[in-house]
Amino acid sequence: MSSLLKPSEIVACLNDHVIGQDAAKRVLAVTMHAHYRRMAQVVPDQVELTKSNILLIGPTGSGKTLLCETLARILDLPFVTVDATSLAQTQFVGDEIEAILHRLIERAGGDPARAQRGIVFVDEVDKLRAAGAAAHGSSGESVQHALLKIMEGAPVRLRDGRHFDTTHILFICGGAFVGLDTILTRTHTFGFISTGGGDDQKILERLNARVKPTDLLEFGLIPEFAGRLPVVTRLHELTRDMLVRILTEPKNAIYRQFQAMLAADGVTLQVAPEVFRQIAELAIEYKAGARSLRGIFEEMMTDVMYAVPDQPTIRRVTIRSLFEPPQLSP
Ligand SMILES: Nc1ncnc2c1ncn2[C@@H]1O[C@H](COP(=O)(O)OP(=O)(O)O)[C@@H](O)[C@H]1O
Ligand SMILES: [Mg+2]
Repeated sequence: MSSLLKPSEIVACLNDHVIGQDAAKRVLAVTMHAHYRRMAQVVPDQVELTKSNILLIGPTGSGKTLLCETLARILDLPFVTVDATSLAQTQFVGDEIEAILHRLIERAGGDPARAQRGIVFVDEVDKLRAAGAAAHGSSGESVQHALLKIMEGAPVRLRDGRHFDTTHILFICGGAFVGLDTILTRTHTFGFISTGGGDDQKILERLNARVKPTDLLEFGLIPEFAGRLPVVTRLHELTRDMLVRILTEPKNAIYRQFQAMLAADGVTLQVAPEVFRQIAELAIEYKAGARSLRGIFEEMMTDVMYAVPDQPTIRRVTIRSLFEPPQLSP
């Protein structure tokens, strides 16, 4: 049963789908594990565990949404994502919050009890400036207050009269928080360099990389909101090698998908390693993380997918370079 998964087992499952981001995987796994134990009440009554909502900080296309989705799937929990900026565009935030809970119930197959143990991923919370209300929307601050209520576990009365208990819903917030590193170097005081550069140095580095709630206030988060996100972890910009691995390694990697599609027609697809490097380099230029990989790969495959059905004798497709036409051979 998924509720018995140990943190290391959760990480192992995440590794099948998400490349890199090891620190974030560990933090998510440990937090989810604790969350499960809390729900299962395996901790003695006297100790009341409070829930640890999570803040994922990372550049666009680095895997924030993918990590949350995969986590929910592994643990078989209902999952919804919400865009904080679109919440700020509506006038009635309360209605939107209720809509989120309804979507969660839907994802739980209509079972409210299951929905009340789901995961809600709120993306782009770094765009919720406290002031700066949009002309016809709600202010970022009122959105934060509305979210805060359900993050704290307040019961919500749904329009159909039912009560929805948010105590055990885990909230994961995401954002790019561009410029955070500049803030961190300014606000951190652990400037002391130890002599050996060994473990002490590592601990210092970790403390220096630690994001404090006050650092988040510079992005317009109100203190109460930042305070409700006690677990903060960061995803890193994906390197070229990681992008190459994303194209080929995950269980549903795009290369595997196209291989499977062509195999159904009895055709073998072989793409040279150089091609993956070229695609990764192009993706880095596009500055959208792993997001642009799929589009580049699909574009490269268009001519192949067009030609193959017309030529039943083709058994093999070889691509040596992104800048050379694919070779189709019998
Ligand atoms: N670390 C990763 N490992 C595997 N695939 C990734 C990774 N990061 C991003 N991707 C791919 O890029 C797409 C966009 O990633 P996403 O998780 O939506 O990024 P973010 O939410 O950080 O902006 C995903 O659908 C996935 O295919
Ligand atoms: Mg995302």
